[in-house]
Amino acid sequence: MNNFTFYSPTYFVFGKGTQHEAGHYVKRFGGSKVLIHFGGGSVKRTGLYDDICRSLEKHGIEYISLGGAQPNPRSGLVYEGIELCRKEKVDFVLAVGGGSTIDSAKAIAAGTVYDGDFWDFYEGKPVEKALPIATVLTIPAAGSEGSPDSVITHEDGMRKRGATGEAYRPIFSILNPELTFTLPKYQIACGVCDIMAHVLERYFTPTEDVETTDRLCEALLCALIEEAPKAVANPEDYGAQANIMWAGMVAHNNIVGVGRRQDWSTHNIEHELSALYDCAHGAGLAVIFPVWMQYVMKNDVMRFVQLASRVFGISVNFHNPEETALRMIERLKQFWSSLGLPVSFKEVGAKAEDIDFMAEHISYEDDGCIGGFMRLNAERVKEIYRLAL
Ligand code: NZQ
Ligand code: ZN
Repeated sequence: MNNFTFYSPTYFVFGKGTQHEAGHYVKRFGGSKVLIHFGGGSVKRTGLYDDICRSLEKHGIEYISLGGAQPNPRSGLVYEGIELCRKEKVDFVLAVGGGSTIDSAKAIAAGTVYDGDFWDFYEGKPVEKALPIATVLTIPAAGSEGSPDSVITHEDGMRKRGATGEAYRPIFSILNPELTFTLPKYQIACGVCDIMAHVLERYFTPTEDVETTDRLCEALLCALIEEAPKAVANPEDYGAQANIMWAGMVAHNNIVGVGRRQDWSTHNIEHELSALYDCAHGAGLAVIFPVWMQYVMKNDVMRFVQLASRVFGISVNFHNPEETALRMIERLKQFWSSLGLPVSFKEVGAKAEDIDFMAEHISYEDDGCIGGFMRLNAERVKEIYRLAL
């Protein structure tokens, strides 16, 4: 196991009715003038927006609001939000929505207190300072409610890039599973796939002696495989949604990823799909993860065998471990497909003729590669895209 530091200071408020406590927690954590940031309108339709306003008013907190964060959030609204926060002297940003809204809110919070262009953070500058950020989560998926990350697409060139920094960890996050009852089934499935992908990106590692975090990853995957079909069948299944919601946070605040080299190629490869075709991030992952697995399996097939046996209960063929690994990949694909997720390039609107562009558009590390489990250059990434055709 590698050396690591782990600091996850977010205060989580979990359970029924907790959105009514938003005002209390904003006050407790020092906010006096709040920007409520939200997405395309679901929070207005469900009445959540009004609940939040009432809660802030009850605690004497001033607020303004900015809606319109779209899935795969864009830089244009971030610039608008920064200007608004400066003009209105906002001292606290409250994101009410999913990962896209939260990520947009994080970018606004950092950009407001930064003299340069907020995009610098998405080109690699660490985020050291931001207005305090808090979240009221409406979809378990991206894990941004507990993560130090934000992903934004710059309209100039449709570059989808991530930024990281401790200042991006929310100061508090409200997680009420009841708020997910209005989710379309497809969004529930996309969210589950993203959560599973966050676990798998960490699971595939060349680092040895990581049994504790391996077992935590496996437990999360087992729980998700059990709970996801229940939530998709009945979005108002509180127990299933509650388990998925907490899994979404645990999968991505890095508690299951510490002390190990992580992979993250699949996310990089997928981000090109959701930037170019505007598909849901989770849908793109369902297409890319199985083909990435197929491609890199030879690098350490026993890691795939371990996953097959411990999570999918597949009996191991020790004479032919590749066969066991392939059976596991097939089972994973079938599982995602059974939730209603796409499994091919075509289904997310992707085109073979864009493969070269996407593979060359990825932001590679200094050696021209990505990936902690297996190093992949642009040529290898093209082969992976082609496997999804
Ligand atoms: O915009 P509204 O109207 O709210 O509708 C949203 C949106 O259309 C809808 N929705 C959300 N909650 C709802 C609801 N509809 C009805 N009832 C509810 N309770 O669902 C749609 C998807 O929302 P979005 O916020 O885009 O989903 P998600 O949480 O999956 O976020 C995706 C974004 O997060 C990034 C992705 O790349 C993508 O841009 N990621 C962020 C990460 C991070 N910050 O740590 C890590 C992830 O790997 C990921 O890359
Ligand atoms: Zn993700």
